[in-house]
Amino acid sequence: MPSPRYDAILFDLDGTLTDSYPGVTGSVIAAIEGMGLDQPDVKTLRTFIGPPLSESFKRVYTHLTSEQVEHCIALYRDDFTVNGIYNNRVYTGIPHLLRRLKSTGAALIVATSKPTVYARRVLEYFGLLEMFDAVVGVELDEREHDKADIVRAALPARYRRAAMVGDRHYDMRAAKANHIDAIGVLYGYGDRPELIGSGADAVAEDVSALSRALCGGEVSSEGLFITLEGLDGSGKTTQMPMLAERLERMGFEVVATREPGGLPLTERIRDLLKDTENSSMTAEAEAYLFAASRAQHVRELIAPALARGAVVISDRFVDSSVAYQGGGRELGVGRVQRINEMAVGACVPDLTLLFLMDPAESLLRRGSATRLDRLERAGEAFFTRVYDAFVAIGREEPDRVKFIDASQSVEEVTRDALRLTEAALRAHLDSSPRPRETEDGRGDDRP
Ligand code: TYD
Repeated sequence: MPSPRYDAILFDLDGTLTDSYPGVTGSVIAAIEGMGLDQPDVKTLRTFIGPPLSESFKRVYTHLTSEQVEHCIALYRDDFTVNGIYNNRVYTGIPHLLRRLKSTGAALIVATSKPTVYARRVLEYFGLLEMFDAVVGVELDEREHDKADIVRAALPARYRRAAMVGDRHYDMRAAKANHIDAIGVLYGYGDRPELIGSGADAVAEDVSALSRALCGGEVSSEGLFITLEGLDGSGKTTQMPMLAERLERMGFEVVATREPGGLPLTERIRDLLKDTENSSMTAEAEAYLFAASRAQHVRELIAPALARGAVVISDRFVDSSVAYQGGGRELGVGRVQRINEMAVGACVPDLTLLFLMDPAESLLRRGSATRLDRLERAGEAFFTRVYDAFVAIGREEPDRVKFIDASQSVEEVTRDALRLTEAALRAHLDSSPRPRETEDGRGDDRP
């Protein structure tokens, strides 16, 4: 492993690790409305991200007394604790970067102008708190503070070389006041002239560039492959966007797809399979068509996305073939698995959420037979065989396949699906990422 460039790295929170724009501005608007002040324009609203709140309120509403500013902050906090704090997302790539930095042994610290309790809560909400050795912010009732003091308090007692990463001039100046490297990021709320003008030693356009500046290489991580399986009508398709949104907000690139389909070619295979005109299609032809669609899907979409570190969620994958064609059409589990070996290659799901619902209930949810496509027209005995095959797959591979009771309310199903997915993500991040060195082994963003 290359020797780490830094043994202590301090991160600003808003605009650097998380994008809190909707949350912060929503709570600023709540405070402004509460005080009966004029609404600022969007550009002015943006300037509230980063600096201490008291400074922003004073700058925008110059006529306010100190007492009124305090009242603004109190109103802001009332709204923020309930709404704003969770209206937030982690910048894409940050979890992988933090894991990589942690593996070098560097101390990772959050140094923020936010109250420490809020900062900890946000980090905990996104599963990032455990990555940090310390979180240093301000007391809830503290009004004036200088970022340089926060950085001073946040720096470990002993370090060889430290850096402060932030998106605004406050962060760069605070770093320089403490004689440590200042690394500016451009994906937050500052711009290049602001960062360079306030002493940035390096400026990173995006999280990849930040990774090069901090570790001298790209963070290369294998992605995570999640599949959703179950009978038609089990509600997995409803869960897909909720899972995708949550994972995106946690800082992962998410690719959501489905089988059969997901691509122009595979969507055409899907049409063939579903068309009621094709009533003479044999079970064998059906199994090969699903496998053909999958072979394309894996190579064109799934494998490349996983190779660049994305989380891929597929609504159905090879287990559907095993259950529907192997069990339902009675081709046999082993034969269908063999047909699919060449189709999937090494692309095996890391986690499969199996939405279990009674076959009779799933038939009811599907609606009247006249509107059903060729695949959905099979009777209850067929779906019972599919169900039994799914359960058998789950029992066979308990580490990969997790059962979810799909007869619960949508909210309960979402809660279970998120809990299982987040556990799989944590385990995945714990398996250490590998650094990919740039040619000269160092970052290329030093001005
Ligand atoms: P779809 O409309 O996507 O249904 P759902 O929303 O329930 O996934 O249709 C997919 C149908 O194809 C569904 O009936 C299951 C079936 N299927 C198989 O029989 N074998 C397979 O390998 C796959 C992927 C799907």
